[in-house]
Formats: sequence, C-alpha cells, structure tokens
Amino acid sequence: MENATKNTDKTISTAKVRSNLPLGPCFYRLSLDLDEVGCRAFSGINPGRFVELRLSELAIPHSESIPDELADAAQRKIILSRPFSLCDVKETDGKVSIDILFKVLGAATVRMTTLKPGDELTIIGPLGNGFKIDETKTNALLVAGGLGAPPLQHLADHIKVNYPHMRVVAFAGAQTYDQLPFTVLIDNEEGLFLEEFSRMRVESHIATDDGSAGLKGFVTQRLAQWIEEHQPDTSDSIIYSCGPEPMLASVAKLAGEHDIDCQVSMESMMACGIGLCQSCVVKANTGSDETSYKLCCLDGPVFDSKDIDFG
Ligand SMILES: Cc1cc2nc3c(=O)[nH]c(=O)nc-3n(C[C@H](O)[C@H](O)[C@H](O)COP(=O)(O)OP(=O)(O)OC[C@H]3O[C@@H](n4cnc5c(N)ncnc54)[C@H](O)[C@@H]3O)c2cc1C
Ligand code: FES
Repeated sequence: MENATKNTDKTISTAKVRSNLPLGPCFYRLSLDLDEVGCRAFSGINPGRFVELRLSELAIPHSESIPDELADAAQRKIILSRPFSLCDVKETDGKVSIDILFKVLGAATVRMTTLKPGDELTIIGPLGNGFKIDETKTNALLVAGGLGAPPLQHLADHIKVNYPHMRVVAFAGAQTYDQLPFTVLIDNEEGLFLEEFSRMRVESHIATDDGSAGLKGFVTQRLAQWIEEHQPDTSDSIIYSCGPEPMLASVAKLAGEHDIDCQVSMESMMACGIGLCQSCVVKANTGSDETSYKLCCLDGPVFDSKDIDFG
C-alpha cells in the first residue's frame, strides 16, 4: 500500500497565479506556479492533501461582480487562512504547479475571483495525510459530492498514471447541474459524462438532486446502481470518497454492506489547520462505549471509513 504522508512538513511558500478561470456559474479554477521552496515541498505529494491560503490582503471585487446574496458577506474581514484541496499537481523539469477548484461562497472566495496572472499568494502546506493507494485492488470507485470533487480529480489522474492496472470509475453528485464543478458533455451512446475524467480515460457517472443532469437522486444511489449492474469483485475494489458528511456516511454504509474497503476525506470546517484550535474534530469509532475524537486537519482529512463514527 502506498503510504499516506504524516503531517509534519508545514512549509510556507509563495505561489504566482498562472490563470484563474471561471468554470460555470459557481466555480473558478486557479492555477498556481510554486516558488523553489514550494516546488520542493509539493514534489511527488499523494492526492488528498490540502493547502491553507492566506487571503487577508486580497481586494474586494467591484460590487457588480459580487453575487447579490454575497454582497454583505464579501465586506467581512478575512482573518484566518482558508483550506483548499488540490485538483491537479503537475511537475515539469523540477517546477511544480498546483490547481485549486474553488466555489464562490463567502468573503475569501469572492476575493479569490479577483486573482489574475502574476499575482502572488502565500500558501501553507502541503497539509494533511492524503489517500493511501492500495495497489492490490483492481477497481477504484471515486465518489464525489459538491465541494468534494477536487481531490478526487487529482486522485484519478494519480492512479491512471502510476497504477495502470487499476480500473477507475468516477461518480459525481451535486444539487443541480450548475453546482457540478465539471464540464458535462453528451455522448449519443453513453449519455452524459464529465470531460475532466474522460480526458484521463476514466468512466464517469452523474447524479443531481433535481435531475437536471444524470440520475435524479443522490450520488450514492448511482454508486449502488453501478455496483448492482457490474457486480465487481468486492475484495478487489476500493471506494475513495469526498463530500459533505451525510453523503460520506451513506458511502461508508454502502461500502460496509458490500464489504468494500473505503477511505473518506472529511472537509470539516477548519480554523487553524495545524492542530491548535480543535475546531475540526470528528468523532472516532472506538468499537467500545468510550468517546474519542480525531482532528481532521492533523489526523486526516482522509480516514478509513470504519474509523469514523457517523452517528
Ligand atoms: C480540507 C478542506 C479542503 C477543502 N477543499 C476545498 C476545495 O477544493 N474547493 C472549495 O471550493 N472549497 C474547499 N473547502 C472549503 C473551503 O475551505 C471553504 O469554502 C472556504 O473556506 C470558504 O471561505 P469563504 O470566506 O469564502 O466563506 P465563509 O464565509 O468562510 O463560508 C461561507 C459558507 O460556506 C460554508 N463553508 C465553509 N467551509 C466549509 C466546508 N469546509 N464545508 C462546507 N461548507 C463550508 C460556511 O458554513 C458558510 O455557509 C475545503 C475545506 C477543507 C476543510
Ligand atoms: S483546524 Fe484547528 S485543530 Fe484542526
């Protein structure tokens, strides 16, 4: 099994914006070129780790570019750094660039829309442990919900490049078509699929709560349907998932019912990101009556689903 990294290497580095492009109505894809310190720290990292961005100095955009519902939130001061996963990490001739896919939600992410090529950002990381790749498996089922999609994009690429014997199948869920952080394409025979995964030759399936793209329902229903249709050898399969906690609880339940190994990446709210404030606790499964907690930022964000008490 490829080891996840222990979170002891917290590096502060500077990144230069290469591009910052809107993706649909809700998301942006931010590409950053790292300085020498960052290149060393991020070289060869496993998928599922994250960064903290220092954003307090960023300008507030012009009022006409702020969505109405965020007009008040956008004016708030940004004191704490903000955590983001990586959706891509590329290395060429010792230079490393990272991509972040972010949703515009509040004061920090509204400001991030103003970043333009050449701007500089301070980043802390890589943080957290990341996914462990079990190369004895032949089926990797990637299940993404909403903001959980970015690290699974990096994971799909990592598996395709380094473990070509593994079949990767991606499942993406969101409330509506607009909330999918992907480019949805249509194939006359296959129906809808996601361009970002098909570029890596990864099969993809979509579910939306309102049925505006793919299956009408939860992404876990689409996963259950796929397992039913394909009857994969469950001992040869593994599920990797990231998304809101109720979705992860359903994924963990389904994995348990089918006896499939499962790793979940928990995106709890975080303040410090380095184990000081205890704001990111998740309840651990101890197998007894004792209550125990883990820190998402230090012990995670990726956990074996059996180690989490989803209540
Ligand atoms: C490990 C980790 C990885 C993350 N990766 C990504 C990523 O790749 N892309 C991305 O867009 N976001 C990601 N997030 C969430 C991201 O950190 C927040 O969206 C961001 O901090 C919001 O900052 P803001 O000031 O714009 O909004 P805020 O004013 O801080 O929050 C706006 C709204 O978003 C909600 N919110 C904030 N954080 C979270 C969260 N963790 N989960 C669910 N809702 C939240 C708040 O409750 C509030 O309603 C990640 C979070 C964690 C902990
Ligand atoms: S975010 Fe502060 S302890 Fe985890």
